[in-house]
Amino acid sequence: MYKYKKTHNCGDLRKNNVGEKVTLTGWVQRQRDLGGVVFLTLRDRSGIVQITVDGDKAPAEALANAQKVRTEFVLAVRGTVTARPDDMINPNMATGEVDIAAEEVVIINKAKTTPFYIIDGLDADENLRLKYRYLDLRRPEMQKSLILRHRVEKSMRDYLDNEGFLELETPILMKSTPEGARDYLVPSRVSPGNFFALPQSPQQFKQLLMVAGFEKYFQIARCFRDEDLRADRQPEFTQLDMEMSFVDEEDIMTLAENMMAHIFKESLGVEMQLPLVRMTWQEAMDNYGSDKPDTRFAMKFIDLSEVVKDCGFKVFKEAVANGGVVKAIVAKGASKMSRRELDDLTKFVNTYGAKGLAYFVVNEEEIKSPVKKFLSEEELANILSTCGAEVGDTVFCVADKYKVTCDSLGHLRLELGKRLGLIDEDKHNFLWVTEFPLLEWDDETQRYYAMHHPFTAPLESDIPLMANEPGKVRARAYDMVLNGVEIGGGSIRIHERDLQEKMFALLNMSEEEYTEQFSCLLGAFEYGAPPHGGLAFGVDRLVMLMAKRDSIRDVIAFPKTQNATDLMVEAPSKVSQAQLDELGLILNVKEND
Ligand code: AMO
Ligand code: AMP
Repeated sequence: MYKYKKTHNCGDLRKNNVGEKVTLTGWVQRQRDLGGVVFLTLRDRSGIVQITVDGDKAPAEALANAQKVRTEFVLAVRGTVTARPDDMINPNMATGEVDIAAEEVVIINKAKTTPFYIIDGLDADENLRLKYRYLDLRRPEMQKSLILRHRVEKSMRDYLDNEGFLELETPILMKSTPEGARDYLVPSRVSPGNFFALPQSPQQFKQLLMVAGFEKYFQIARCFRDEDLRADRQPEFTQLDMEMSFVDEEDIMTLAENMMAHIFKESLGVEMQLPLVRMTWQEAMDNYGSDKPDTRFAMKFIDLSEVVKDCGFKVFKEAVANGGVVKAIVAKGASKMSRRELDDLTKFVNTYGAKGLAYFVVNEEEIKSPVKKFLSEEELANILSTCGAEVGDTVFCVADKYKVTCDSLGHLRLELGKRLGLIDEDKHNFLWVTEFPLLEWDDETQRYYAMHHPFTAPLESDIPLMANEPGKVRARAYDMVLNGVEIGGGSIRIHERDLQEKMFALLNMSEEEYTEQFSCLLGAFEYGAPPHGGLAFGVDRLVMLMAKRDSIRDVIAFPKTQNATDLMVEAPSKVSQAQLDELGLILNVKEND
């Protein structure tokens, strides 16, 4: 057995351990040398404890070693747990009532001065933290997040195992298909000129596992998507991926929310209110301008289209006449905003495509508004009463096409929620968004795309619309939203070849294209495919929200930067000419690219 096997975790020691002989191992958080006495703070993943090396009591070697110690040295310490005198108790430390009287201090390894302090709330450049991630991960708050991640994944496994799910693995090297994002490609040495793709999700495989008769599948699966990155997006991320046979939406949503309640109870001790609130995609867009509404605060949209369709302000009137909408939100108590802040908000909505922002500041004496001069008194009064605006409020309106109005006002709502301090950070607001449109029209390419993915089933009642009004078809899809973040999504799938072919055709694919790309799935549907459906949760996003972090990078041990690079191992990197030759690859990259 290892010579310095620890008997206790540093962070676990309490008053009831007083008198025990202990061996501890860990890293030095701090060393204070007072001459004859050295105080050390020793850290392991459980926490920290204070060690006292008193020259009058400890052997000379222990004191000499303790004097040589620097921050982040690796130590083994043997000693006795003692109670601190009342006036020395540190209430801010879990182990603040005790102290270890050291008898032996062994320097197991030295450490150079670290590029940043190993402390919580560190204000260091993130790139430096990522380059030295193994040091960054030593910080207690990072360890806490990853320990939480472990607990969350364990409670997922326990829950699903108990419900009869099988954890099955699917390939990482698979076929490139146009599923949404760009694929990461892997050249094949054995078949030169051919490529594998890394899976954007195990979608097709899990459906094939249903055709194979496994009935209930899950996997904590790594997914790869070459897309533009943001705080809640990584090129390589983790899904809790699930699929079930002989089920409908209700079965899947019920199971998913019960599982989520289990996870929150087990990992955070939080009781979730079930069943979760549900709203259709249409309701979410109409009321919040988002398919992932943050309902921790109200500020719902008010539709003014009817009220202003004949008013004197041309922008409002014409927006409605051209098939657009005029929508408003009421910011309670926001009438004190400066002109500059209001101008800022106009620029803010401009970035989401809105051509302008009308506002009405409701003061005791007067209504201030840049569009007041275009409206009669009655029209103005009508707008304000429809909005239920009171003295002290500011009403914000956008007039535009439905999509632009919803998008810009939806983002403005979130921005105002933040600025006005309306968001209770301790709330966990879950909801389901259902009945998404099956297809999304893209003006640029003049074609439809699958809003979820091409395997999503349409609502039975909407199938007839597929022929002439495909844009109106609703999908049997659902997303789970937590505090305005999409944490999971899924659907009931198509399980019949005919319908699947119809769907591919709507996505502008020729028969030749879809049989080439999806021959396996289409073929499988001809050998007795059961009705099936499922969903996938973004594990990184879920843990980020549970850990109250702002970025998923904080809950991934070794994440990529915003530029999709790994600064620690320096990847991606160049490879040798021999490797390229073996793969039959010729590079066509300019040196400075
Ligand atoms: P979807 O593409 O919606 O569905 O992904 C499911 C969940 O994964 C998370 N997620 C991400 N997290 C971090 N970085 C990313 N780049 C990223 N992209 C997605 C989100 C999202 O809700 N196969 C389907 C699921 C199904 O239909 O069963 C799928 O992948 O939290
Ligand atoms: P303009 O005549 O274009 O300068 O617009 C006058 C005011 O109308 C602006 O200051 C905005 O407050 C408002 N406005 C302009 N376009 C829109 C729009 N699309 N939606 C809402 N308000 C608008």
